Amino acid sequence: MSDLIFDVRNVTLRFGGVVSLNDVSLHQGRGEILAVIGPNGAGKTSLFNSLTGLYRPQEGVITFQGRDGVPLSIIGKKAHRVSAAGVARTFQASRMFSALTTFENVKIGAESHRGIGVLGAMVRGPRTRRGEHESDQRTLDLLAFVGLQEKANVVSASLSYGDRRRLEIARGLATNPQVLLLDEPAAGTNPAEKIQLTELIRRVRDERGVSILLIEHDMKLVMALAERLYVLNFGSVIAEGTPDEIRANPAVIEAYLGSAEQTEDRA
Ligand SMILES: Nc1ncnc2c1ncn2[C@@H]1O[C@H](COP(=O)(O)OP(=O)(O)OP(=O)(O)O)[C@@H](O)[C@H]1O
Ligand SMILES: [Mg+2]
Repeated sequence: MSDLIFDVRNVTLRFGGVVSLNDVSLHQGRGEILAVIGPNGAGKTSLFNSLTGLYRPQEGVITFQGRDGVPLSIIGKKAHRVSAAGVARTFQASRMFSALTTFENVKIGAESHRGIGVLGAMVRGPRTRRGEHESDQRTLDLLAFVGLQEKANVVSASLSYGDRRRLEIARGLATNPQVLLLDEPAAGTNPAEKIQLTELIRRVRDERGVSILLIEHDMKLVMALAERLYVLNFGSVIAEGTPDEIRANPAVIEAYLGSAEQTEDRA
């Protein structure tokens, strides 16, 4: 337990009368593929938003330990600061620039990380030309890694759901993160695309050494991929364990898996 990438202690997040996270404690080891599951409205996305600096919980401590080994206290930090420290994410609803090509979408991720910003990346002043070749090469490498090299010049709006999900992963990786947070990465994809995404996510960890934190409703995918899981229900952690432990946990079955296992059977 010594090499933790995330250490979350007693985090509570409220919106008026709504308690989105209720005294949540959890941790992620460096290199771990960890999942957070739970019914709709359980607080999963709120947890991601708190881990990435978008939400500011009223109570608790969130510590991220980046590549320099210096612990960063997340609560109160701006999202761009958290991103620069090595935390990347994808969003539940796609946020790419749909009028741009696959290549441009990834390149903007790479260049905004170099501190040029979206505008600088598009304007291309003399100051931005330095290193441009480098980010072109990095973008091509990432597209090849996710299997989109053939579609580099396709406008993103015309990509299939599965390809969009891969593009979002490439965009996340463009910032060269330590950990990648994936909010329902398989939503909207077909069974064949789900299998490809499972393999891709595993390769992100195995080949690039990036820790994975995953929210996913598809039980087949999440149980195949996650090494350990936390279950949220009404903002509280109700269970933690390996896939086998979670499947056998009566509280989980009652709160969640009862309906989800039917999904798994159908898939
Ligand atoms: N910005 C916000 N303002 C007010 N309430 C919010 C906000 N963000 C989240 N909530 C509330 O927090 C609770 C948890 O929502 P959250 O989106 O985190 O759930 P979730 O587990 O991601 O659900 P889903 O599986 O449907 O994506 C909900 O009651 C939601 O309405
Ligand atoms: Mg959500």
